[in-house]
Amino acid sequence: MAADLKGKAALVTGSGKKNGIGYGIVRKLAESGANVIIADLVGKETRQNEPFPDSMAEMTHLAKDLEKAFKIKAIAVELDVTLAGSIAQMAAAVQKQLGCIHILCNNAGTVFGVPNAVHTYDEDAWMKTIDVNLHGVFRVSKAIVPLMTAGGGCIINVASRAAKVPPLFNGAYAVAKAGVVMLTKVMAKELAGAGIRVNAICPGVIQTDFTDWRFKLEADILDSTAEARKAEMLKSIPMGRLGTAAEVADLVAFLASDQSSYLTGQAINITGGQLMEI
Ligand code: NAI
Repeated sequence: MAADLKGKAALVTGSGKKNGIGYGIVRKLAESGANVIIADLVGKETRQNEPFPDSMAEMTHLAKDLEKAFKIKAIAVELDVTLAGSIAQMAAAVQKQLGCIHILCNNAGTVFGVPNAVHTYDEDAWMKTIDVNLHGVFRVSKAIVPLMTAGGGCIINVASRAAKVPPLFNGAYAVAKAGVVMLTKVMAKELAGAGIRVNAICPGVIQTDFTDWRFKLEADILDSTAEARKAEMLKSIPMGRLGTAAEVADLVAFLASDQSSYLTGQAINITGGQLMEI
């Protein structure tokens, strides 16, 4: 049975790129009946060595497409999760247009300064990586929880397999994502009484531009090819393939719906069997 989110209002951070997990989530929530807010960086570096896209036009276009396809309301807003001012502006726009929020998915994530061991990591890159991935979840949640007034809500934080198994030379990201899992548990306890459930998901390797970038980076370092790096990765995934944004989105929609009404404080792996521990 598909999740029924009719009439709910859902905000997904980092959801303005068509090939990203965030847009996959926003699309699924809209398909399930929710009014959605697409929020993302505009004209800023999204990750190490990445060009600055003029993403406002793309975001607005994606929002219009969703409205047409699913007969819901979709809003596109600029958001930088590292800036309290940007978050406050976004929250004010959301409140004005939708009144309250029922579903928050903290999906924005990135990496700077890789590959490096901890003792050679550039300090600014370390701080920036943790600021987006961990403190961004704190800041956005702090701004949005007060808007979850109408009988509770759901928060879904996008962590990573890296929160549980340390990747090599990608320490700031791993530490930040592990922090996201603990923040999820802390908030789940604090907010249970208010009827707000908080869960995290830990994706393995999902086919997005981020993953393509990662295979290319590995290939450059190891004097290999992106295809060879991907083939090597597939050997460690029992299901023998990468996951898709749509599969991650199905899990988020489940966690956002009443179908998961007794689930809170969990960090659920979605890895094709690559990670089997809890
Ligand atoms: P992506 O790079 O396509 O999407 C990340 C989004 O976050 C982008 O739209 C980017 O603009 C946004 N973002 C970055 N910095 C931001 C900031 N300061 N403020 C607001 N938005 C910001 O990557 P992907 O693969 O879609 O990743 C989505 C989430 O899933 C991230 O949190 C990532 O860490 C996580 N993840 C991805 C995996 C994968 O294999 N692709 C595996 C495990 C976790």
